[in-house]
Amino acid sequence: MPVSSARAAAFEILLRTETTGAYASELLHSSRVAKLSPADHGLLTELVMGVLRWRSLLDKRIAEHSVQPLAKFDLEVLTTLRLGAYQLLFLDRIPTHAAVNESVELVKQARKRSAAGMVNAVLRKIGTGTAPPADDFSAHPQWLVERWTKTFGVDVAKQICVYDQTHAKTTIRVNDPVVIEELQRDGVHTQPASLLAKAFVVDAGDITQTKAFRERRLIIQDEGSQLVALLVGNGNTILDCCAAPGGKTRIIAGQNPDSVVVAMELHPHRAALLRKLVLAGNVRVIAADARQMPLAHKFDRVLLDAPCSGTGTLARNPEIKWRLKAEDIPRLQSYQSEILAVAMDYVATNGRLVYSTCSLEPEENVEVIEHALAANSEFRLIDCRIELQRLRQDHELVIDDVESLLSGPYLRTIPGIHPTDGFFAAILEKN
Ligand SMILES: C[S@@+](CC[C@H](N)C(=O)[O-])C[C@H]1O[C@@H](n2cnc3c(N)ncnc32)[C@H](O)[C@@H]1O
Repeated sequence: MPVSSARAAAFEILLRTETTGAYASELLHSSRVAKLSPADHGLLTELVMGVLRWRSLLDKRIAEHSVQPLAKFDLEVLTTLRLGAYQLLFLDRIPTHAAVNESVELVKQARKRSAAGMVNAVLRKIGTGTAPPADDFSAHPQWLVERWTKTFGVDVAKQICVYDQTHAKTTIRVNDPVVIEELQRDGVHTQPASLLAKAFVVDAGDITQTKAFRERRLIIQDEGSQLVALLVGNGNTILDCCAAPGGKTRIIAGQNPDSVVVAMELHPHRAALLRKLVLAGNVRVIAADARQMPLAHKFDRVLLDAPCSGTGTLARNPEIKWRLKAEDIPRLQSYQSEILAVAMDYVATNGRLVYSTCSLEPEENVEVIEHALAANSEFRLIDCRIELQRLRQDHELVIDDVESLLSGPYLRTIPGIHPTDGFFAAILEKN
């Protein structure tokens, strides 16, 4: 029995996600899988994201039916079992024999022929069971759940976990409403999103197959991320310190068409991606380390969208919850503080810096800001409420309850509470 192209590609992407630190969401849009039919690509996405979202629950079921402990399995064998178990437990439309037989074939093709009998036996046993009860905290590492319970309380922690287990919606930003009509004609249905006037949620259809997407007349970007870019406001010179892949750079450049926007990125391949994705004529891309900026002048506006744990994006990037360790958080905090200290040196008098992350962890957010303000008396904190009210007056922000987006003077979106990824932002102004 041949292995279907969707299952073979899912196996390969899951292995690469485990072994290389690559993100599944990026691999799912790589050229390697671009030739799959829309139906196969849909199944591939379902399999990869499903296995990553429910990994601990799948592992529990596999362990219940296997003599060998999971830690003893080769990664190829464990990945095959997870893929098979996900199909059996979560996907109604796939018959048991197809899920089992293809998994056996997959493990043989992965040169683990000796495990074929065991894969067959374990999956057959899982196939006769019922779907596992998905309680609210299932499929998240305990240490993260405990952290969020401490930070947000038990109810909010539950809502975050539930949201993380759902399919993250595709949200787009369009400057011209005509694009929405064009998408409708191309079979892509959208509805207005919750926070921003120019944001729309895709209900049906493949946005990446449309002319408007190919011609860059729309951006695929979470609403929380769009909102952070809008907080940057206007200036003649703007620096985006950690800019790739460039979602926020594009919005900033669009809001400031007559300004110079410098977009910096550490990794040359990501800087190259940024150049490809952001075509605005007023953007200059530099591949450099923001801790040693090769720049001679200061800027009216600086955005530091810092590298972070990404715990606010688990619905889109579920692999993060299995990779991240508690001890990574203090390490990230010192890296963020280091970049922020340098970025502050590049803010002009009366200029502003927006610091943001897509992390839910206070160490990466409020603590970084408090340390920076304690170390540099030239800056003061601006209440994000003022900027959100400005955006409301400008008809960019359409949500009535602006207060719900605030935590003290900070912007704070929480997945499950807001229909977005979890973003934090602070605005600092130089005296
Ligand atoms: C959160 S992402 C930025 C996302 C981007 N602002 C957007 O909206 O598309 C952080 C980026 O910072 C880059 N980065 C990490 N360390 C850096 C450093 N020391 N200097 C410059 N860029 C860095 C990472 O490679 C990553 O591309």
